[in-house]
Amino acid sequence: MARQLTQLELLRELEPTAEANVNRHLKTARDWNPHDYVPWDEGKNFAALGGTDYDPEDSQLDEVAKAAMITNLLTEDNLPSYHRVIAENFSMDSAWGHWVGRWTAEEDRHGIAMRDYLVVTRGVDPVALEQARMIHMTNGYDPLLAAADRAEEMAEMGEEIGLLHSVAYVTFQELATRVSHRNTGKACNDPIADRMLQRIAADENLHMIFYRNICGAGMDLAPDQTLRAVTDIVTNFQMPGAGMPNFRRHGVLMAKHGIYDLRQHLEEVIAPVLRKWKVFERTDFGPQGEKTRDELATFLDQLEKDAARFEEMRDRSLAREAAKREKQAS
Ligand SMILES: [Fe+2]
Ligand SMILES: [Fe+2]
Repeated sequence: MARQLTQLELLRELEPTAEANVNRHLKTARDWNPHDYVPWDEGKNFAALGGTDYDPEDSQLDEVAKAAMITNLLTEDNLPSYHRVIAENFSMDSAWGHWVGRWTAEEDRHGIAMRDYLVVTRGVDPVALEQARMIHMTNGYDPLLAAADRAEEMAEMGEEIGLLHSVAYVTFQELATRVSHRNTGKACNDPIADRMLQRIAADENLHMIFYRNICGAGMDLAPDQTLRAVTDIVTNFQMPGAGMPNFRRHGVLMAKHGIYDLRQHLEEVIAPVLRKWKVFERTDFGPQGEKTRDELATFLDQLEKDAARFEEMRDRSLAREAAKREKQAS
């Protein structure tokens, strides 16, 4: 069995890739200002400053758009949790450290823009939003906890949760948030929101590329070890909002109305990244890696079946709701 690389060895070996990708990112990323994406003239004071407090009638967003906006914003709000994961598993020196800071600053911009938009346009109840933010940030979120299912087995094999699990998780997570932001933009039915969320989605795509390239280099450097981390993450993947207030109800609404569902997860997030890493074409896996790849393939087959089943259920449910609406209208 190939020896597991230590965290220090991984950081050292992958440092040139990190540096090249920080430079690529800085050349490609476009600076933008959150205030340019917010319709300030739609705003007015709340009661504390002599105006009126939020009334549900104020909102132009439907239930789906509200659920998606809240979920996406709370995810951005929880940046300290994600920063922790990255900062703990990357080094704070050299290109690694520069990336941690730069990425955190870019992510913060997303939350600023979305909150300003929602508060100014009164798209959602700002008090409920603030309460949900407090709960979600106080709980924090550890995206790697799900992979800890294998903790005992890992310890026996000399594996540990670290850099590879983190970059695998954020690769998929960045792509998932890109898909979710883009579809939320369409669901808002407001060209201003759509423009803002497309801008944010473009950032998420660049973030995804950074992490995907690091993880891809890990796959070339230590194929079995990296595939193990990727498989742990894919088979335990949870959307970043897990644990936030109303996550289930909002998640169901989002899945039902095409913001983020299993089919999109499989075909727009998991599959393209695995293709990029050539996971199912590579010939450099050892016996352990081959076994892991079989496990991953079995999981993906099941995911495909689950996606098909969900779609059938959703179609039936949407048809029932449409029939009910028609009956009420007649
Ligand atoms: Fe973001
Ligand atoms: Fe991002």
